[in-house]
Amino acid sequence: AGKRTFTMIKPDAVEAGNVGGILEQITASGFRIVALKMTQMTTADAEEFYAVHNERPFFGELVEFMTRGPIVSAVLEKDNAVDDFRALIGATNPEDAAEGTIRKKYAKSVGENAVHGSDSDENAQIEAGFHFSGREMF
Ligand code: CMP
Repeated sequence: AGKRTFTMIKPDAVEAGNVGGILEQITASGFRIVALKMTQMTTADAEEFYAVHNERPFFGELVEFMTRGPIVSAVLEKDNAVDDFRALIGATNPEDAAEGTIRKKYAKSVGENAVHGSDSDENAQIEAGFHFSGREMF
C-alpha cells in the first residue's frame, strides 16, 4: 500500500479550537507530517476538490461549509497511510464512528465532520497535489 495520505482539518474543527488536539492524535498514531498549512478554500476550489460529489443533494451545503472559514491541510506519511488514517478518523457520520476516533471525539454531524481523509492512494496523490506544490512537501 502507498505511504502517503492527504487530510484537511475542516472549518468546524478549526473554529472549535481543535487543530492542536487533532494534530497531536495524528502524530501520536504514527503519522509523520510532510506538508502542513492553513488556507481558506474559495467556492471554485471547493467545487473542483469535491467535483466527484457534484450531483449529490448535499453538494451546495458541502461547498458552503468548506469555504466558510480556514482549514488546515496536511500530507501524512506512514506505512499503509490511506487505510490506517481512515481507521483513525472513523466513519463519515460521527454517530457511526468508533470510540476514540477523531470524528467520534470532534465531529458534530455527517456534514460537519471535523476531518477529511483520502479514500485511495490515487486520490491521496491528486488531493495533495491540489493543495500543495512540490516545494511544500518534504
Ligand atoms: P468527506 O468524506 O471528507 O468528503 C465528502 C464529504 O461530504 C464528507 O466528508 C461529508 O462532510 C460530506 N457528506 C457526506 N454525506 C453527507 C450528507 N448526507 N449530508 C451532508 N454532507 C455529507
